[in-house]
Amino acid sequence: MAIGHRQAVASEATVDLAPAVPSHVAVIMDGNGRWAAARGLPRLAGHRAGVQAVRRTIEAAIHQGVGWLTLYAFSSENWRRPATEVSDLTGLLRHFIKHELAELAREGVRLRIIGDRDRFDADIQAELAHAERTTTANTRLNLTVALSYGARGEILAAARKVAAEVAAGTLDPADLDEERFGAMLSTTGIPDPDLILRTSGELRLSNFLLWQAAYAELVFTDVLWPDFGAEQFAEALAEYARRERRFGARPG
Ligand code: IPE
Ligand code: IPE
Ligand code: MG
Repeated sequence: MAIGHRQAVASEATVDLAPAVPSHVAVIMDGNGRWAAARGLPRLAGHRAGVQAVRRTIEAAIHQGVGWLTLYAFSSENWRRPATEVSDLTGLLRHFIKHELAELAREGVRLRIIGDRDRFDADIQAELAHAERTTTANTRLNLTVALSYGARGEILAAARKVAAEVAAGTLDPADLDEERFGAMLSTTGIPDPDLILRTSGELRLSNFLLWQAAYAELVFTDVLWPDFGAEQFAEALAEYARRERRFGARPG
């Protein structure tokens, strides 16, 4: 009887739907411009300080045992910003991949890029492809960076693929399920985010991971992205740990 009870407890533990530490944290890094404006600095200064926050956040994720981290760095809509700001941002991206990725690779980070990378200059595309290729064996942190990413565009591309396969006679619409459709998205092989965090007090998703966010816990903080670091990351994880995830089932 007692043994039977222990076994029941053990089997419940193996199907724990909400471990205290999220396996995948996705971050909408927002507020660089306001951080700079508050200091009377150009927006570029805010973006530069934002890069430091990226480094701190990657370290914090590794330290906290988060296996998957996705960072929204540039949206498909961000191309609408003034050309000077777009060029500042791509310049920072170029600098980051040329000077910081090697260090991340040494720390065991595997890099993946999602988004429309073809819109960046050829040298950036080549560096990104190289970084992805050379870090495939790394397992300490799975880092995904969303660049020129938009969730509607991503879903539309998958729908187009489905339509083409149906037209070619290689896919029966009746066989299309969530798993197969999900595998056509740019995030194939990446688990859905458990926690989506947005800085700077804005309460929206801004076209980020709309399909994948179906059951993510959302955490919003007023902290501006350049002020974000280990402490704020730990606070977001603590907030996550207080949430009760149900996935549509009755409260436990
Ligand atoms: C986030 O900061 C960086 C990007 C979106 C590229 P913002 O540049 O959006 O900063 P705010 O929202 O204007 O303060
Ligand atoms: C969302 O921030 C995109 C990124 C963080 C890369 P934005 O600053 O572009 O979002 P909106 O325009 O305020 O919705
Ligand atoms: Mg913003």
